[in-house]
Amino acid sequence: MTEGIRDKIVVVTGASSRLGEATARLLSAHGATVVLGARRADRLESLAKEFEGHGGKALAVTTDVTRREQVKALVDSAMHTYGRIDVMINNAGLMPQAPLERLKNDEWDRMIDVNVKGVLYGIAAALPHMQRQKAGHFINVSSVAGHRVGPGFAVYAATKYAVRALSEGLRQEVKPYNIRTTVISPGAVATELPDFVTYPDASKRIRTFYEQVAVPADSFARAVAFAMSQPPEVDVNEILYRPTRQEL
Ligand SMILES: NC(=O)c1ccc[n+]([C@@H]2O[C@H](COP(=O)([O-])OP(=O)(O)OC[C@H]3O[C@@H](n4cnc5c(N)ncnc54)[C@H](OP(=O)(O)O)[C@@H]3O)[C@@H](O)[C@H]2O)c1
Repeated sequence: MTEGIRDKIVVVTGASSRLGEATARLLSAHGATVVLGARRADRLESLAKEFEGHGGKALAVTTDVTRREQVKALVDSAMHTYGRIDVMINNAGLMPQAPLERLKNDEWDRMIDVNVKGVLYGIAAALPHMQRQKAGHFINVSSVAGHRVGPGFAVYAATKYAVRALSEGLRQEVKPYNIRTTVISPGAVATELPDFVTYPDASKRIRTFYEQVAVPADSFARAVAFAMSQPPEVDVNEILYRPTRQEL
């Protein structure tokens, strides 16, 4: 498993919480250098300290992925400090849910800004470096909701379908540059996401659903490690997984 992970320079957005944090922890344990991006600086700093305490290398860079220049600064920090970027994990995301008729325009805007534009800014920041290096790996985070739509999560699903579309387009376009692209679509993973569901009916339903079926965040981290640890000529493009108990 360490093959393809040790000494890799990996930038992770949304590294301050569940999926991103678990991924950074697993990759660091396997010898990767991790560059951590999210808005909550205190969480990033303490993670970086934890990894350094175990002999790892880590950098905490406060980043709002809706700000193009901040995502560029995150990737540029990796380049400046370590000289290259091997993997860009576009993980930051939000999942507020409500029926469309509730007209939660602000939440629609935020989901599009973070889940779609944030991923695009991550691609924009890392792609020129990877093209120059003639090597690199994008890992973009979609969801089961990027494969299935249901009442109450149309906009979230739209953003996650968009991540898959962008990832497939990217996959086809980066062939000349020896760049790999993986899109990972998890089912219910224990997370802070339900905390941000403001519509009471949806909030209760999601909380109960997550309590019943969600699996730990290291399930996602292992999927990342699997994709990274393939031989360079093998490009794992899609991983879709669910808790064994999840029906939808
Ligand atoms: N958990 C699940 O069941 C599940 C299933 C399918 C897909 N996903 C996807 O997995 C990804 C990670 O979610 P999670 O489950 O780990 O949720 P989470 O615990 O709520 O973490 C979300 C992460 O995104 C970051 N983030 C949010 N807005 C941001 C912004 N404007 N700029 C930078 N970072 C921002 C948060 O950091 P700060 O608040 O510190 O900025 C946090 O680190 C998301 O894309 C989500 O859609 C999750």
